[in-house]
Amino acid sequence: MALCSNPVTAGRAASLVMVVTNNMSKFCSLAPLVPYEHMTSPLDFSGEFDEPQPLEVEIGFGQGEVLVRKALEHPQRNFIGIERHWERIFRTMKTVTRFQSRRSGALRNVRILDVDAVFALEYFFARESIDHLYVLFPCPWPKKKHIHHRLFSTEFLKLLNSRLKAGAAAQIVTDLRPYREWILEQISETGFVCETEDIHPRFETKFERKWRLKGQTTFFEIRLRKISSVHAQEKEFIDVKSYRLGDFDPARFAFEDHKGPVSVIFKDFMFDPQRQRAEVYVLVAEQHLTQHLRVWIIKKDNFWRVCKAEGQMFFPTPGIAQAIDLVYAAATKTVQD
Ligand SMILES: C[S@@+](CC[C@H](N)C(=O)[O-])C[C@H]1O[C@@H](n2cnc3c(N)ncnc32)[C@H](O)[C@@H]1O
Repeated sequence: MALCSNPVTAGRAASLVMVVTNNMSKFCSLAPLVPYEHMTSPLDFSGEFDEPQPLEVEIGFGQGEVLVRKALEHPQRNFIGIERHWERIFRTMKTVTRFQSRRSGALRNVRILDVDAVFALEYFFARESIDHLYVLFPCPWPKKKHIHHRLFSTEFLKLLNSRLKAGAAAQIVTDLRPYREWILEQISETGFVCETEDIHPRFETKFERKWRLKGQTTFFEIRLRKISSVHAQEKEFIDVKSYRLGDFDPARFAFEDHKGPVSVIFKDFMFDPQRQRAEVYVLVAEQHLTQHLRVWIIKKDNFWRVCKAEGQMFFPTPGIAQAIDLVYAAATKTVQD
């Protein structure tokens, strides 16, 4: 199912304005980004690249040093980088643009997904679609109370297993020995065998340099190999429904925040009496995704329609459906005693 809209467009659009200039040294092409309008669940990556080649994925590529280097060294492989830090994505895209403008045909095998990695694997990658995945210096969350933020939980390892091809490998390198030990504890029943090695600096990334400058000379590698398949269902985008209401009283509209696995938090309500249109603005927080959503309650002939507002971007997830349902319920209440 196709995407109808998206949360981080504002970041993309703002950066586009900031960087598009006649001066090539400042020009940054958005071409490496997988465009939101292409983002289906699951994504057809063959349409993103010139050639259907083996697919490598880097999670948290930071400033893209390794992503770019590997893509240059292996033009016969396709690379998807996943990162959620916009400034780092922007820097990486500038590097990609620089190479592309110097060497025709260079780096046409790189694409970037600017979303959370868990969300990306759940929605965009089909089962058994990835040939190799690597993560260099994932956020270590060293404090005990933050451990639940760590990426390589058992649940994530199962998801990773299901998206890797049979026999494929994943590589994780961390600066924190206890993080490696913790990952090893998560591995049982995830369909992987693993090898570990203490390694010396070799990646020349920003974070590796940072630890080296602090005197660290050993890092902690885990190599996972998929030996059996674990099932983790691909998640699918939903069809966004709209509703009809016989009557609606904007003066009595009240929305109660909803908290749970999906939280829907009220931000604003406006009513335009001339257009006979109310707009409800909410934040929709799901496990790995927070989105802004505007919902219209709009008069049509002799009824009111509750529907997504036009001109916005979001991923049509189950949380979005729940938010529209809640707005519909709140609108219904305005004409009940
Ligand atoms: C410690 S930095 C390492 C960056 C880079 N690999 C390096 O070595 O310089 C971790 C990176 O992972 C990204 N990251 C962390 N969790 C992520 C997630 N769930 N999805 C996408 N990116 C993530 C962060 O934004 C950050 O850029």
